[in-house]
Amino acid sequence: MPKNRALEIIDAAAAGGYAVMGTCCYNIEGIIASVRAAEAQRSPVIIQLFPWAIEYADGLLLHAAREAADKASVPVAVHMDHAQSPEIIRRAADLGGFDGIMVDMSHYEKEDNMRLTKELVGYLHERGIISEAEPGRINGGEDGVMDTGELEGILTTPEQAEEFMDLGIDWLAPAFGNVHGKYGPKGPQLDYPRLASIFAATSKRGVNLVLHGASGEAFTEEIYRECVKNGMRKANVNDAFNVEFTRVMREKADKVPLTTLLEEATSAMQVVMEKLMRWMGSAGKA
Ligand code: 13P
Repeated sequence: MPKNRALEIIDAAAAGGYAVMGTCCYNIEGIIASVRAAEAQRSPVIIQLFPWAIEYADGLLLHAAREAADKASVPVAVHMDHAQSPEIIRRAADLGGFDGIMVDMSHYEKEDNMRLTKELVGYLHERGIISEAEPGRINGGEDGVMDTGELEGILTTPEQAEEFMDLGIDWLAPAFGNVHGKYGPKGPQLDYPRLASIFAATSKRGVNLVLHGASGEAFTEEIYRECVKNGMRKANVNDAFNVEFTRVMREKADKVPLTTLLEEATSAMQVVMEKLMRWMGSAGKA
């Protein structure tokens, strides 16, 4: 495969022992905030879009993200998060502009998950796009992602990780008690020994780990550091900064001009992103 920017960013994180944020963006403000935060912190970043963004804006957000990534003064890549059907994966790959795509077939039974993952990873690699996959099934749900709430979460085992690496995946998103969206009253109940055993298996084969569900007040700096220590090299963040966009909209709509509203919402997201870049250890690495 030719040089791939997403792979380079995460390989550097593995060599340096830190994680890079995957910012789940729903709008141009999220994309602008991601690049501004990365430049302010001299940190790499990965801008992420859900399939929703392709369907809603017919590829326009992808092209904006691509241009922002290419113009940035720090390494920025563009990745599709939770692509859940073969059709959207092929469509996204054919659009051009993604460095990576998450082949999320975790809502299928294991055999189908593996068969489809292998086929689609091949499709992506032929086009120079790297892949992320989810053995097991991470609980919870996210806006813009197919609701699989009725399906039971399945924790990833090191054996499953091996099986998925045999399919040729580049990054692996383990389920080890992490949850998309809100954690319950007890906060994150993460199984670090499980994560450490998965990391032991993946690090031998040069496959890097991706943390999903890293939002909420209960997801503290200490938890981030523990996850990074146990091998996480990309951390996807959605709620933690997008709630800032909606908060500013709610509090200031009709009270300030629209331009001010959008600028303030962008800045509020940037503040959270910069803090998380420091927590993940990527600040100062670009
Ligand atoms: P949060 O919504 O919990 O930040 O999760 C983001 C995520 O894992 C996207 O894949």
